[in-house]
Amino acid sequence: MFPTQVTLVEVGPRDGLQNEAQPVPAAHKIELVHRLQAAGLKEIEVTSFVSPKWVPQMADNTEVLAGVKRAPGVRYSVLTPNLKGLEAALADDPTAPAGSARRPDEVVVFAAASEGFSRRNINCSIAESVERFAPVVTAAHAAGLKVRGAVSCALGCPVQGPVSADEVEHVVRLLKSIGVDHVGVCDTIGTGTPRAAQAAMERALKHYPLVEVSGHFHDTYGQALANILACLEMGVHTFDTSVAGLGGCPYAKGATGNVATEDVLFMLHGMGIATGVDLDRLVDTAAWIAGVLGRPLGSRAGRALMARRGAAVEVAA
Ligand code: HMG
Ligand code: MG
Repeated sequence: MFPTQVTLVEVGPRDGLQNEAQPVPAAHKIELVHRLQAAGLKEIEVTSFVSPKWVPQMADNTEVLAGVKRAPGVRYSVLTPNLKGLEAALADDPTAPAGSARRPDEVVVFAAASEGFSRRNINCSIAESVERFAPVVTAAHAAGLKVRGAVSCALGCPVQGPVSADEVEHVVRLLKSIGVDHVGVCDTIGTGTPRAAQAAMERALKHYPLVEVSGHFHDTYGQALANILACLEMGVHTFDTSVAGLGGCPYAKGATGNVATEDVLFMLHGMGIATGVDLDRLVDTAAWIAGVLGRPLGSRAGRALMARRGAAVEVAA
């Protein structure tokens, strides 16, 4: 039985842009968030508070967060790998304009299901990462923030290769033990296929309720929609997606972006599943950001819908 409603967490401004080689001005990142919320997205991952030496593209995190004008009902999240990141995310910028996001509603800690990727991405073992996250969770809760935990490489690792459901469950259990509120099963390199996605999801669901589990599928091998469908069959109803299919992880070479928000919307709306997001406005946003970055639109549905509009304009002319 498929869910009747799905929540999309738009990760384009963070996961989408973190890997971008060319500098993207903060003003464009802020405008991207504004366009996404105008299209109806209610959960937006805005930026990350990580080391600027590791991920230079996110160095403008404070400026971007402070520049976002809060829209009613929208929740803003940021990545915080350690206390330093959380403290920076919570530092209230007195110069931020009234009504700006300023502080996030939610933070994300990110662990890996494989030791190799944990070292490559956050420079420590899985156990050390969870030790580092524990005070982040405590401090975030004390500040009234929800904490999501991402389990990277849940369906495959660029260092180790295959990853087992046992390895996924091990990390899920650790995240649960330190009080993480929500867990995301993340296919960082996009090698997962539907049965593997279901097996990993099943392990997450042993420790978290449906409402606190999500899927995060990079589309490197074109499997993301199939994996989402497999998770929908299990009742999972929260997925991370990235406008225009932007992105990739700097520490997973060759990994492309998350599944495009437009492609997921087209599938869900076609299945009669509500999202609250306006597909046409989202396609406008996808075309706009692709133009800003100087590249073709990365989503199949986005390209098809743009082509259809072009055809309609020709007929009208
Ligand atoms: P480290 O070098 O082990 O940390 O990095 P350290 O504590 O030894 O500090 C080294 C330097 O970094 C120091 O500065 C710290 O102050 C600074 P220095 O004294 O050399 O000038 N530092 C920081 N600066 C700003 N903000 C911070 C911070 N922490 C330390 N929060 C660290 C450890 C985790 C910081 C580093 O490895 C890092 O930033 N990694 C980046 C990881 C990242 O952003 N990866 C991409 C996002 S995750 C992802 O995309 C996966 C996901 O989408 C799900 C999926 O697809 O799988 C979520
Ligand atoms: Mg990712």
